Amino acid sequence: MAEVVIVESEAEAGALVADEIARRVSARPDAVLGLATGSTPLPVYEALTSRLAGVNVSQVRGFALDEYVGLDPQHPESYRSVIHREVVVPLGLDADRVQVPDGRLAGIETAGDEYERAIRAAGGVDLQILGIGTDGHIGFNEPGSSFASLTRVKTLTAQTRADNARFFAHPDDVPRHCVTQGLGTILRAGHLVLLAFGQGKADAVAGAVEGPLTAMLPGSAIQLHPHATVIVDAAAASRLRLADYYRAAWRDKPDWQGL
Ligand code: GLP
Repeated sequence: MAEVVIVESEAEAGALVADEIARRVSARPDAVLGLATGSTPLPVYEALTSRLAGVNVSQVRGFALDEYVGLDPQHPESYRSVIHREVVVPLGLDADRVQVPDGRLAGIETAGDEYERAIRAAGGVDLQILGIGTDGHIGFNEPGSSFASLTRVKTLTAQTRADNARFFAHPDDVPRHCVTQGLGTILRAGHLVLLAFGQGKADAVAGAVEGPLTAMLPGSAIQLHPHATVIVDAAAASRLRLADYYRAAWRDKPDWQGL
């Protein structure tokens, strides 16, 4: 089962994850970070900016989870642009060492396989940051995604397109397809850190952490991972049956175990 940490605030969650990432980068300057987009990981990136100031990050590598298909890479809401703006620039990473799946139509047939090769060539992702969609998706692995899936093109659900419409001028502008790391890809990372905030994520979190393993709730795949940490605020934790147990386990956790 994933370790569940119930925090007071998004800032507390950001600080916890940023401390862990900073620790890893100090121990291994060419650490490979799995980067997520969306609103949820922003407190992590914010906290990380100060933690990494003065640390040599020139060797750090990064892989984004997903990208829209057919959106100009220069579009401000392409995940290439988002990762550049929210992660690469503030953290001072080397842009050439941070990859995002190639969602351009030319070559889309091979984009998934190429991304898998690139992740393997880097030795795999050390720590993967994850958010979760209201329908339980991680990356862009919509309900029905195979637990064995690798990076590939997927069709976005109407719900995900509606959720992401806030980033676009018009709901119809949200692309219909994406290229996303698969659940099988995500499960190969060394440590999964899934964050979720707010009541709107409570059902997805409960399904992912305590529900049955099912492709209908792709986030439940984290139950197959030997080192998965779920960091949630009280609202996102509100449907967890074992919330009191998670609070006690975190309170009594020996320091030496780390995150
Ligand atoms: C997006 C991304 C996911 C993200 C999720 C939740 O569509 N593809 O990686 O985790 O949906 O987004 P947010 O954090 O903004 O709620």
